[in-house]
Amino acid sequence: AQANIGVVGLAAMGASLARNLAHKGNTVAVYNRHYSRTETLIDKHGDEGKFVPAKTLEEFVASLTKPRTAIIMVKAGEPTDDMINALADLMEPGDIIVDCGNAYYKDTMRREKAIRARGLHFVGCGVSGGEEGALKGPSMMPGGTKESWKTLGPILESISAKAEGEPCVTHIGSDGAGHFVKMVHNGIEYSDMQLIAESYDLMRRGLGMEPSEIGDLFEEWNKTELNSYLIEITAEVLHHVDKKTGKPFIDVVLDHAGMKGTGTWTVQTALSLGVPVTGIAEAVFARGLSSQTELRAEAAKQGLEGPSEVVPMPLEERQAFINDIREALYASKIVAYAQGFNEISEAAKEYGWDIDLAAVARIWRGGCIIRAQFLNRISEAFESGEANVSLLFAPYFKDAVETVQRSWRRVISRAISFGIPMPVFSSSLAYYDGLRSKRLPAALIQGQRDLFGAHTYQRVDEPGVFHTLWTEEGQEEIKQS
Ligand code: 6PG
Repeated sequence: AQANIGVVGLAAMGASLARNLAHKGNTVAVYNRHYSRTETLIDKHGDEGKFVPAKTLEEFVASLTKPRTAIIMVKAGEPTDDMINALADLMEPGDIIVDCGNAYYKDTMRREKAIRARGLHFVGCGVSGGEEGALKGPSMMPGGTKESWKTLGPILESISAKAEGEPCVTHIGSDGAGHFVKMVHNGIEYSDMQLIAESYDLMRRGLGMEPSEIGDLFEEWNKTELNSYLIEITAEVLHHVDKKTGKPFIDVVLDHAGMKGTGTWTVQTALSLGVPVTGIAEAVFARGLSSQTELRAEAAKQGLEGPSEVVPMPLEERQAFINDIREALYASKIVAYAQGFNEISEAAKEYGWDIDLAAVARIWRGGCIIRAQFLNRISEAFESGEANVSLLFAPYFKDAVETVQRSWRRVISRAISFGIPMPVFSSSLAYYDGLRSKRLPAALIQGQRDLFGAHTYQRVDEPGVFHTLWTEEGQEEIKQS
C-alpha cells in the first residue's frame, strides 16, 4: 500500500479532483468501472504527480494506506449506493469513504448511519466550483465525524481554493450537514443567477440595450460591491459571439433553463422546515416556466396582451435607471443569502448540527460558484453575532438595504409597467416588506380559518386559544385553553 488517498469514478469531476490531489503531493489511487478512463487519465496526466492506477476495486483498496481514504465521484442515486457498499465490503473499521457528488442530504444521513454501524466513516462532502474548481481548487463542504476530519482535513485543505490565504474547506457538521450546506449553496446560486438574468432582461427588453453593451455594464458592476464570479461570467457570456451565425451567443441559445435538482431540494426542504426561501423558490419556478415549452408556445399563439416592451427613456433617466437596477440587484442578493442562511440555521436546530455560519461564509469566498466579495462582510456579520437572527439585521446589510431600497422599489414598479417579469426581484422585496411589517394580514387568515373550520386563533391582548361561535347569534367567543 502506498497511496494516501484514492478516487473512484474518473469522469470530468473525479479526474479533476484526482489530478488536483496529485498536484498537491498526494499519492492518489485511481479506479474507474471501465478501465479505459483510468488509462486515459494516466496517459494524459500521469506525469503530473503520483498516481496508482487500479484495474479492480480490490486492487484499489489494497493500494491505500491506513486509515484508507477513498473519494467517490460517481452518478448520484443507485450507482453511489452500490459503490459505497462495494467499498465498505473491502474496507476495515476506521477507514473513510467520502462521497463528493451532489447527494441529497437525507441520502447522506442514511448512508452515514449504515456505514457507521459497520465501524467505518462515511463523509458526505459538497464540492463546488465545477470542473475547473475541482482541478484548481474547489470550495468543499464535508460532513461526517470529527474523527474522519482529522485524516481528511489536511488533504482537503491542500486541494481546496484559498481565500485570503485560508483554505475554503471546513468541517461543516455531523452526517448530512455538508451536503445540506452544499444544497443551500446551490439554492442561493439559482437565486443569484436568476437575479442577474432579470437585470439583463430589464436592460435588454426594457431599455433596448445590446448584449455586448450589457456585458460591458456587468464588467463595470464587477468592480462594485457586486464583485463576484457569477457577474464576471455573465459579462463573458454576453460578449460571446456565435461562430456559426455571427449573432450574439445569447440570441441563439434556447431559453429553456435546465436543472439537476439541487434547487428544488433546497425549496422542498425549506417548505418542510417552514422557512420562507421565497427568492430561491421563485428562481426554481422561473426555470420551470422557461421549460414549459408547450404552454409557452400556446401562450404565444393566444397572443396574451401586455404593455409594449421598449419605452424610450432620455439618456439621464436611463443612466439613473441602470444604476437603480444595480442597487436592486444588490438588495435582492442580500435577501437570497439571508434566506439561505436562515434555512441552514433552522436545519441545524432540527438535525442537531453544530454549524458555524461564519465559517460557511468564509469557505464560500473562494472556489465555489457563488464566490463573491461581499461574503467577507457576511462572515464578519456572523462572527460578530450581528447576523445571528437574520443577515438583514446586521448593521452593514441593514444599512445597505435601506440605502438602496428606493431604487429597488423603482425598478420593480418600472418592470411591472413594462410587463417584464421580475419574480426574484419582487419576491425578495415582498419578503423584506413582510419581515418589517408590524402587522400582517395573517390575522384575517386566522379569522377565515376559524370561521370555516373552527381552527381557532390567539388574541393580541390575552393568552390562550379562542374560537368564535360564528353561526350563533351574537357570535360568542369561547376560550378553548
Ligand atoms: C457547483 C454547482 C454544481 C451544479 C451545477 C448545475 O457548485 O459547482 O452548483 O454543483 O451541479 O451548477 O446545477 P443545475 O443543473 O441544477 O443548474
